[in-house]
Amino acid sequence: MTHALPLLQVALDNHSLSDAYRTTRLIAPEVDIIEVGTILCVAEGVRAVRDLKALYPEKIVLADAKIADAGQILARMCFEAHADWITVICCADINTAKGALAVAKEYGGDVQIELTGFWTWEQAAAWRDAGIRQVVYHRSRDAQAAGAAWSDADINAVRRLADMGFNVTVTGGLALEDLPLFQGIPVHVFIAGRSIRDAADPVAAARQFKRTIQQLWGQEGTCCTAQSR
Ligand code: 5RP
Repeated sequence: MTHALPLLQVALDNHSLSDAYRTTRLIAPEVDIIEVGTILCVAEGVRAVRDLKALYPEKIVLADAKIADAGQILARMCFEAHADWITVICCADINTAKGALAVAKEYGGDVQIELTGFWTWEQAAAWRDAGIRQVVYHRSRDAQAAGAAWSDADINAVRRLADMGFNVTVTGGLALEDLPLFQGIPVHVFIAGRSIRDAADPVAAARQFKRTIQQLWGQEGTCCTAQSR
């Protein structure tokens, strides 16, 4: 399916499912994609994926497992728990991505390559050649905490990945004020975790993300360049 507007994904980087439910009870209707964050995956395992998909079957549920090895085994665990999408970290061997993608196809799901830390354009070409259609451009949480701001290099890289035909997700401490930086680029998904979860009014925060996306991308009619599922 193609989308006229970037989708909104909430990242659940909670330490427990009960805590995650405090957010989803409020904002599930406001978002397109529910992410079982890496922190929640570690805290609760694939049960978190299974339970969230059971509660919200109409939503895309992403398991942010950041798989680094054993691609087929870990992908199968996530898809058996009814994940729609999973992530493989960019430093993984290409065969990890290929293995995860092969399993994803069995289940009608998809694989995103998580671009956190070092990666190269040669790798990007190899992912594309391997049939990967989605990447996540990620300003690392720890790099952000150490002071890394969004830079021209980031914006140019997101644009170049989109030009290569990838459906590009953008994430990493995203605030509402960051969205205009990406205007004019056919971003597939914006992820907001703390900006929604920790807001005084999470519903208002999610709605404001949606409104701003509509304002910035609605006029352009930009859409994604590759199939998303
Ligand atoms: C951390 C992640 C987060 O899920 C992602 O960065 C979104 O969360 P936030 O908006 O709070 O940074 O992948 O590894």
